[in-house]
Amino acid sequence: MPRTATQTRSTMPLTDHRDFDAALRFTAESVERAMYRLLPVSKEPEARLFEAMRYSSLGGGKRLRAFFALAGSTLFGVSGLAAARVAAAIEFVHAYSLIHDDLPAMDDDDLRRGRPSCHKQFDEATAILAGDGLQALAFEILAQPDTHGDPAVRAQLVLGLAQAIGAHGMVGGQMLDIEGEGQALSIGEITRLQRLKTGALISFSCQAGAILGKASEQARHALAAYAHAVGLAFQIVDDLLDVEGTQAELGKTPGKDVARGKATFVTLLGLDHARDQASLLADQACEALDSFGPRADLLRQAARFVVARRA
Ligand code: IPE
Ligand code: IPE
Ligand code: MG
Ligand code: MG
Ligand code: MG
Repeated sequence: MPRTATQTRSTMPLTDHRDFDAALRFTAESVERAMYRLLPVSKEPEARLFEAMRYSSLGGGKRLRAFFALAGSTLFGVSGLAAARVAAAIEFVHAYSLIHDDLPAMDDDDLRRGRPSCHKQFDEATAILAGDGLQALAFEILAQPDTHGDPAVRAQLVLGLAQAIGAHGMVGGQMLDIEGEGQALSIGEITRLQRLKTGALISFSCQAGAILGKASEQARHALAAYAHAVGLAFQIVDDLLDVEGTQAELGKTPGKDVARGKATFVTLLGLDHARDQASLLADQACEALDSFGPRADLLRQAARFVVARRA
């Protein structure tokens, strides 16, 4: 599509960015703008809560889940506004999960995205409430008519997110992760743990565009298979980086998994095999997209990025 002189880089459609890094930057900028609009500064007496919610959700992170939602949406002709709202909701939920993950009762991490964790910057009670507030905000956004004109689509989004992050998804995985500390889990048990803890939200991110675009079952299955592989690869690399990454690269404290006796792919397989496994999963993720042809190239590049990333 020819670009007019007045069309700036940031208004180019995502698919015009052939280079993955530029596409990821574009995503981060557009989701960030949506998040600023959806979570403004509060002048109410409870303003501190909003400050903590903004502190932990705005201005940081790779925005990879937002990327999956936007890139998936482009496959089905979804409007940029709808996709950005859903991507923002997903990133708000992700930020909530990180706030709670860092609490002293969980991973007890003082550093997140290169800054003090929410409970360090504010206090534990505020951090718990900020997480709760971000989670509710995400569902509010999905349920609002601006997200999609068809209430059935909005209900599917709400259902999909609830299933991804509830007791049968992310929160269940976090329970297994905490209970697994100091335990020798089998490969099957670790796979299930990671699939719930991290894979389920990534999977919802990859399928959100298909829900918004009322895509065929076949297309949704292909994206589910992609997400399945990419989600697991993502957590394997997170575990690898916990061993191999530096604090400056990661913006969070490395070495925490070993220190807390976490059961990870790295503890079970060793560094080399874990890395091989992640590469294999990226290959599988790309193969799952065969039916989309070159239209899914950005998602293929994202699978490669997940494995090659240093943060
Ligand atoms: C970190 O996720 C937490 C996990 C689920 C492993 P990311 O690595 O995507 O964190 P940000 O959003 O870029 O900070
Ligand atoms: C966090 O996993 C998963 C969720 C927040 C659901 P980790 O505990 O491995 O994430 P990091 O390493 O602290 O970012
Ligand atoms: Mg954790
Ligand atoms: Mg953690
Ligand atoms: Mg980790």
